Amino acid sequence: MRKPIIAGNWKMYKTFDEATEFVEAVRDKIPSEEIVDAVICAPALYLPTLVDIAFETDLAIGAQNMHFENEGAFTGEISPAQLSAVNVDYVIIGHSERREYFNETDEAVNKKVRAAMNHGIVPIICCGETLEEREANQTEQKVEKQVKAALDGFTVEEVEHMVIAYEPIWAIGTGKTATADDANTVCGAIRNVVEELYGRDTSEKIRIQYGGSVKPENIKELLSKEHIDGALVGGASLQVDSYLKLLEAA
Ligand code: G3P
Repeated sequence: MRKPIIAGNWKMYKTFDEATEFVEAVRDKIPSEEIVDAVICAPALYLPTLVDIAFETDLAIGAQNMHFENEGAFTGEISPAQLSAVNVDYVIIGHSERREYFNETDEAVNKKVRAAMNHGIVPIICCGETLEEREANQTEQKVEKQVKAALDGFTVEEVEHMVIAYEPIWAIGTGKTATADDANTVCGAIRNVVEELYGRDTSEKIRIQYGGSVKPENIKELLSKEHIDGALVGGASLQVDSYLKLLEAA
């Protein structure tokens, strides 16, 4: 039985005050981490403060991206060592917006996953197809390629601790959700890839989230499916009420 993981991805939303008020408002209302892993992935600027506010609660704080090098002349970047030094627990890697607007490649995603594991930060590795790819029946092919590249070169123990997020690009921020059955089919295909690479035991342990217009109204059905172990949520994670409702559903 895999523990559900519900992660909010705030993207480039919220002022500092809005972010701290949100975490202050939810931190004592989060269900026990024995039942669900609750995560907020916030803009990097707010991470140390939010980690402090969430200290010793059941809410974990994550980053939305990082570089794969520990230090260096990379203006504007944040390193895994820097995230780990402020006790960030999770990092989203390879979000489709990073891949599309910041030219993040499968190779860079693999290096970032390596760097996250080296620093004890749980990577939430994103994959997903465009509308054109879905219409051309290339969904599984695309996702399998991304997952194989991201997971290249790890031990089974490392892979068991990772999280994969299947986010069809056409469902992000559009209000269009993949049907729960379609999402489950792709998450199942991802689990098969993990089995092929790392064995049955590992594929049964790794958690796979669905992301793309997840809301309190549709999360229960998604989570009821065999291969969907949680959600990576954009818009509906921005309001206290709806974030708490998402957690309650889990
Ligand atoms: O990473 C979460 C995401 O891309 C989905 O966004 O707003 O469709 O829930 P949204």
